[in-house]
Amino acid sequence: MRYRLTVIGTGYLGITHAACMAAMGFEVLGLDVDADKIARLNAGELPIHEPGLEPVLRRGLDSGRLRFTTSYEEVAAFGDVHFVCVGTPQKRGEYAADVSYIDGAVESLAPLLDRACLVVGKSTVPVGTAERLADKLVRLSPVGAAAELAWNPEFLREGFAVQDTLHPDRIVLGVRSERAEKVLREVYEPLGDVPIVVSDFATAELVKTAANAFLATKISFINAMAEVCEAAHADVQLLSKALSYDDRIGGRYLNAGLGFGGGCLPKDIRAFMARAGELGADQALTFLREVDAINMRRRARMVDLARELAGGSFHGCTVGVLGAAFKPDSDDIRDSPALGVAVAIGHQGGRVTVYDPIALDNARKAHPELSYGESAVDAVRGAHVVLLLTEWQEFVELDPEQLGGVVAARRIVDGRNCLDAEAWRSAGWHYRALGRP
Ligand SMILES: NC(=O)c1ccc[n+]([C@@H]2O[C@H](COP(=O)([O-])OP(=O)(O)OC[C@H]3O[C@@H](n4cnc5c(N)ncnc54)[C@H](O)[C@@H]3O)[C@@H](O)[C@H]2O)c1
Repeated sequence: MRYRLTVIGTGYLGITHAACMAAMGFEVLGLDVDADKIARLNAGELPIHEPGLEPVLRRGLDSGRLRFTTSYEEVAAFGDVHFVCVGTPQKRGEYAADVSYIDGAVESLAPLLDRACLVVGKSTVPVGTAERLADKLVRLSPVGAAAELAWNPEFLREGFAVQDTLHPDRIVLGVRSERAEKVLREVYEPLGDVPIVVSDFATAELVKTAANAFLATKISFINAMAEVCEAAHADVQLLSKALSYDDRIGGRYLNAGLGFGGGCLPKDIRAFMARAGELGADQALTFLREVDAINMRRRARMVDLARELAGGSFHGCTVGVLGAAFKPDSDDIRDSPALGVAVAIGHQGGRVTVYDPIALDNARKAHPELSYGESAVDAVRGAHVVLLLTEWQEFVELDPEQLGGVVAARRIVDGRNCLDAEAWRSAGWHYRALGRP
């Protein structure tokens, strides 16, 4: 049987999942509470920046297999398998995750379910959420236990979302019945030979948070080494290169710099700590507090380094900031280290102009108090200090001579250790980087 799929919550995760499932041949109906987003998606317009996703979306719409709606009634009537992809942001003023959107989605869908179906959570949630939602689903749905829950965490990376969805490293299925496992195996069958791990709910939920905790730890490890290198006048780039040849360590996620941000890693490690505390296992994760602190210290160190280059104060100083997105190939500015640094320098009296190839509109909306340039050259015109804060290829390829012609002083801090230091120094720039002499 070819199942009809629905995707509830069409943000970075949901749009990608819906479009890719349509590309795999399924009929898919996406739903969001944001009517504007739904109108844009039905018009073939991507409300986010994600390389390679727009053609997949368009092909899905053109084939007639992919549609979007705001109607839960339509979704309930349409779907055999409902994927829940709504947001789980950090609660205001707390470490814990706000799971109210996911509860809201289940509360909207469950009372409308009039036949057997599978509701599959993909959002990142605190362990224990699936068990609670499974009870809620059965309680609220007119068909009772015939509406079954499963948990299928998502590991896609923004910037590689289509590739990661169509060629995942692994698929994790948290299920309570053979039927649920069988349905999900059939859904993912078109992906071919992908390792599948079948588990209970709690393990499935934990795989996702554990993976994010590990990646965050690896990034903060090399950034902690950068702090020591700075103190010891050593070079973290060479250190990291030498470590990377050890295949027990590996070179990925081992690039020292301004640290991690975005809509996932920071809030996920905090939510993980909060949940471990509730479970009485907080000691096991106290190291994540340090991982978070190291990460946030990089932003403060960046501001200090910029102030040092500015001569000890930002007053009367123009700072050109290259990058607003939390990482290249994304327009996502959630908890962006680049914008965090730009805002902090603004608060300390600097005149900051930011440029980003894709994330400018989002940055403008979130931080109207900053100035924005229309190009890298525009943003650094007249700058006393230039900061490279997001590793866009366009910035890596900048010509130090051309940029040198428009700035007030040739001073740059490479927050991502991605420039050729020698090339910039030979062009007369005072080049500094995190973790390097
Ligand atoms: N972005 C990623 O790279 C990524 C990767 C893996 C996992 N995740 C997880 O996936 C989840 C979604 O992340 P995202 O980045 O796509 O978030 P997002 O904020 O981009 O999208 C969430 C969407 O859910 C919608 N929504 C909220 N409440 C709703 C409701 N009751 N019914 C229907 N729609 C509703 C919002 O309008 C929004 O469009 C989070 O738990 C996140 O941690 C994200």
